[in-house]
Amino acid sequence: MNFELNEEQLMIQQTAREFAETEIAPSTIERDIKAEFPTEIVKKLGELGFMGMMVSPEYGGAGLDTVSYVLALIEISKVDASVGVIMSVNNSLVNFGLEKWGSEYIKKTYLTPLAQGEKLGAFALSEPEAGSDATQQRTMAEKDGKYWVLNGIKNWITNGTSADYYIVMAQTDKEKRHKGITAFLVEKGTPGFEHGVKEDKLGIRSSDTCSLTFTNCRVPEENVIWDVGKGFYFAMNTLNGGRYGIASQAVGIATAAYEKALKYSLERKAFGTEIFNHQAIQFKLSEMATNVEAARLLTLQAAALKDAGKDYIKQASMAKLFASETAVKCALEAIQIHGGYGYVREYLVERYLRDAKITEIYEGTSEIQKIIIAREIMKEIQ
Ligand code: CAA
Repeated sequence: MNFELNEEQLMIQQTAREFAETEIAPSTIERDIKAEFPTEIVKKLGELGFMGMMVSPEYGGAGLDTVSYVLALIEISKVDASVGVIMSVNNSLVNFGLEKWGSEYIKKTYLTPLAQGEKLGAFALSEPEAGSDATQQRTMAEKDGKYWVLNGIKNWITNGTSADYYIVMAQTDKEKRHKGITAFLVEKGTPGFEHGVKEDKLGIRSSDTCSLTFTNCRVPEENVIWDVGKGFYFAMNTLNGGRYGIASQAVGIATAAYEKALKYSLERKAFGTEIFNHQAIQFKLSEMATNVEAARLLTLQAAALKDAGKDYIKQASMAKLFASETAVKCALEAIQIHGGYGYVREYLVERYLRDAKITEIYEGTSEIQKIIIAREIMKEIQ
């Protein structure tokens, strides 16, 4: 077992760290207040190759391993979890699935500009009445000649207003339940396709989330991803990959909360000494440090398994479950250690709490992760 990062991984980590500190950090507070999408930052991430990190160079990607991707995403999310989720959705939920299951036409036409950062992607599975229970898709797609006609509504779509290309799951054969769901690539601007207004969110406010409406929206048949009836499997397998992305985002938030709390505890004095010297604070910091390390290792383990071509479903869900809960706990403790200062925006830790909460909800709630983990355990013991 080797815990050392190789030279390339260290270089990617350093590049991401420097980019986050110089290009992202200066605008985080303002973008959070204004709920402003980081257009310029996303463009620069594309130029760095960070919007198509694991895609092969043949399709415009950087051809890096999953461990490098996780390391970069942790560094970006440590500074701004909103930028982290934009990057995660494009890399894990959009590019990954298109490269693995898209036709050559889809890879050339859509994946390449997405991987190069020229276009942005979104993944539309959730609906007003199909969140955790994702098989209950109400969005319908009916065949009409060489087109599929989509009707329905999608909810909570990350990159919803800013994306150019959307992966949309729809029911093409209701009788077949999840075996009758198909994934489509829909371009922004297609007649009958509209996005709603941006949700006014508690956290990750600089990323945009909205609903999508399809009204007799005609999508060419060559934009079917994988195959008709494979959409649910496509979504599930893609989400397995997305989950170490969200775990990385959570590790980034948790790390930032821990580091801010540690720094503050070494500066702030109470009862005649730096508060770090009080055992009550040491206990909190020790727990935070331990949980951050465990979350980081679980996340890297899921990534390393994927890189080794091994099964990583259980580990990705474990990483997401543990890292997201760690992020929330660490953010809460960081606020407690900061006292009143922790409650104001300028000290950043209050934003970590607001940003952390969603990591326990999207790409499968903590409860869904427990179901997936239990099912994987069952497979192992049967
Ligand atoms: N990986 C691969 N295949 C899977 C899978 C997984 N993790 N989970 C289920 N499947 C397969 C099953 O093997 C089964 O295959 P068969 O048809 O061959 O039997 C099929 O899918 C149906 O599965 P189940 O019978 O287990 O279906 P279920 O309804 O009991 O449960 C679920 C499925 C795991 C709970 C699923 O609905 C789920 O993952 N829900 C959560 C959805 C989710 O994560 N949404 C996030 C939205 S995207 C988002 O948040 C993105 C963003 O913008 C940030």
